[in-house]
Amino acid sequence: GAELRDLLISRIRDVQDYPQPGVVFKDITPLLADPVAFSALVDALAELCRKHAATKVVGLEARGFILAAPAAARAHLGFVPVRKAGKLPGPTLAQGYDLEYGSAEIEVHADAFGPGDRVIIIDDVLATGGTAEAALDLIRRTGASVVGVSVLLELGFLAGRERLAPQLKGAPLDALLTL
Ligand code: PRP
Ligand code: MG
Repeated sequence: GAELRDLLISRIRDVQDYPQPGVVFKDITPLLADPVAFSALVDALAELCRKHAATKVVGLEARGFILAAPAAARAHLGFVPVRKAGKLPGPTLAQGYDLEYGSAEIEVHADAFGPGDRVIIIDDVLATGGTAEAALDLIRRTGASVVGVSVLLELGFLAGRERLAPQLKGAPLDALLTL
């Protein structure tokens, strides 16, 4: 509710002109360092896992790992990492995506999911939606279904939700905070 939102927002710090001039970076490290706020955040994400009847929790390297792994454990679900290319040892599927400058690639183990797995994707921030869009495509290509995308913070002015809408195919996009 409103109380959780107030607590979370109070622990996110604005850093001016990072990583480049004109950008205000939303720094979640004060939230992570606060045991009450961090635990409340993990509880809220675990609740979304239960609400959507997820069977596996995906975290997106790197900042998504910090939130998705404890949420998975708290919801008594397994955790699956989606990593930047070249980091996973087994057979993988890969998905490229465009960044503001250049491009990137993410990977997941091809055998990470079984038939009938219901995957929730967790990340810290939804900005342009490019990262989440690539993760949706990647996970679906393994044969698993995506039952939700959950983020701590949605930057509404970047219209990631609108970009993602066609790829969500009805899966809910939940943001605990929207700016
Ligand atoms: C940041 C953030 C999200 C993504 C959001 O990750 O953690 O994953 O950008 O941006 P988008 O919606 O425009 O794709 P980043 O790639 O900077 O790396 P990190 O998580 O490894 O720090
Ligand atoms: Mg990230």
